[in-house]
Formats: sequence, C-alpha cells, structure tokens
Amino acid sequence: VAINKMFNPSLKIATVAHRGASGYAPESTLASYQLAVRMNADYIEMDLQLTADGEIVVMHDETVNRTTDGRGKVMNLTLAEIKVLDAGSWFNKKHPMYAREEYVYEKVPTLREVFEALGKNTSYMLEVKSPEDNPGLEEKMWALVEQFDLVDHIAVQSFSKDSLKKIREWDKDVPLFQLMWYSRPAHISEASLKEISTYANGIGANFLRINENYVHKVKNAGLLMYPYTVNYQINMSKALEWGADGVHTDYPDRFNEVIDEF
Ligand code: G3P
Ligand code: CA
Repeated sequence: VAINKMFNPSLKIATVAHRGASGYAPESTLASYQLAVRMNADYIEMDLQLTADGEIVVMHDETVNRTTDGRGKVMNLTLAEIKVLDAGSWFNKKHPMYAREEYVYEKVPTLREVFEALGKNTSYMLEVKSPEDNPGLEEKMWALVEQFDLVDHIAVQSFSKDSLKKIREWDKDVPLFQLMWYSRPAHISEASLKEISTYANGIGANFLRINENYVHKVKNAGLLMYPYTVNYQINMSKALEWGADGVHTDYPDRFNEVIDEF
C-alpha cells in the first residue's frame, strides 16, 4: 500500500487529538475539537457510532452514561433523545481546574456537525467503532466524507480489520490504521505485519505495552506507528526516540512542544 505523501513520516510527525483536546475540554464535543484545532493538532480523533435512527454521532463509550446526564446505549437512543443531553457538566465536576461555564451547553455532536463546523481547517482520524453493533456505519461515514469533499482530510482507524478492508476497496489512498490493544508486553509477528501491510498504512497501539523493538518492527514493515494515548511529555519524547510517526494524546499542546524540541 502506497503511503499518501501527506503522511510521509519524513514530512510531519502527527499530533492526533484524542477525542479532541480532551484533557482540557469535555471529550468528543465541538468545544474539545475546536480547542484541538486551535492547538494545531494535525488530526482530531473521533469515535463514530450509529443512533437508533441511524445518525452518526461522535462518542467513545457504548452508553451515554459517563459523558452526559442521560442513561442508555447510543444504539437504543434516537438522535433527538441524545441531543437534549448535557455533554459537558460531567467534565466540569471531574476537572474543576479546567471547568468552564459554557461547557454545560455542549451537546453530543453528529459527524455532520463537526464537518460543518471545521471543514478543511483540520484533518480527521475517524474511528469505526464496533462495526457489528453499527451496521452500515462505514458506508454512511464515507458518504458524508464525500459530500463534504474531505477525502484528502481523513484517515480511518479501527480495531476491525474487516472495516478497514472494506474502506480500502473504496479508496486505495486513504490512510488506514489498524488498532491493536495489548494487555501484556506487545509482540507482533512478521506474518501479521505482512497481512496488515496489504490493507493499512499504519498501526495504532497502546503505548504502555509497546517498546522500541515493536516500533522498529512496524517501521521495518513499511508501516506508520502511532501509539495511543500518550499524555506525559516524558513518554511523548520516548515515543519519538523509538521512531513513532505521531501520537494520540488528550493534550495536543504538550506533544507539539515535544516535537518542537525534538
Ligand atoms: O486513538 C486510539 C484510541 O482511540 C483507541 O482507543 O478506546 O480511546 O477508542 P479508544
Ligand atoms: Ca478512539
């Protein structure tokens, strides 16, 4: 798979704002995404899910319980039911240091609303969440990306190889990242790397379980390496020393400082 020149690691180390600048503002809200863009993130990361009535909303958890004042599974709620929820007050309570009065007005955004608000001012790391619970999500997402003429402004990541392969069939250039999560020190076989290279451009893996050798193996296979979720500058520096091509972080400003000094 040819690596899009926009993602050539020699050109740019990527700052991926995980759920937006979610260390400073309620995750996966417009406030969080707008702040990430102001902090010069290269990508804003969004977890996508379908509501009961088939709209794409941006939310990480399967339920609205943690990040809103409502209860229930996203897949069982309509967009109208989700839109009345307060998606910011939980953040103010949990992070008084960064609390802001206006966050109480934040809503769960649809993907369309984020594209409308930010358009070509940023790039989007779109995560296809649990495809088995969200049938047709990839098709709907792709239709919106085309409608907003954003094909050159996105990358897609997923834990699902099937989702990524489906998207690769539609577009041979869009950067795709295979997500991995390791509960033990990470190992990856040459055979897995070879297979991933047939459909993806890179790997996203949890930073705490990888090491320099893992990064080198990924890079030697011609793949990009974006560890997640790296929030301390000491770890960000380590990721860069190992050869990572970018990191996912809740604090895009911190990573940009590390890149500047690297
Ligand atoms: O950005 C990578 C990361 O998003 C994968 O984990 O659980 O935060 O979606 P999660
Ligand atoms: Ca995610």
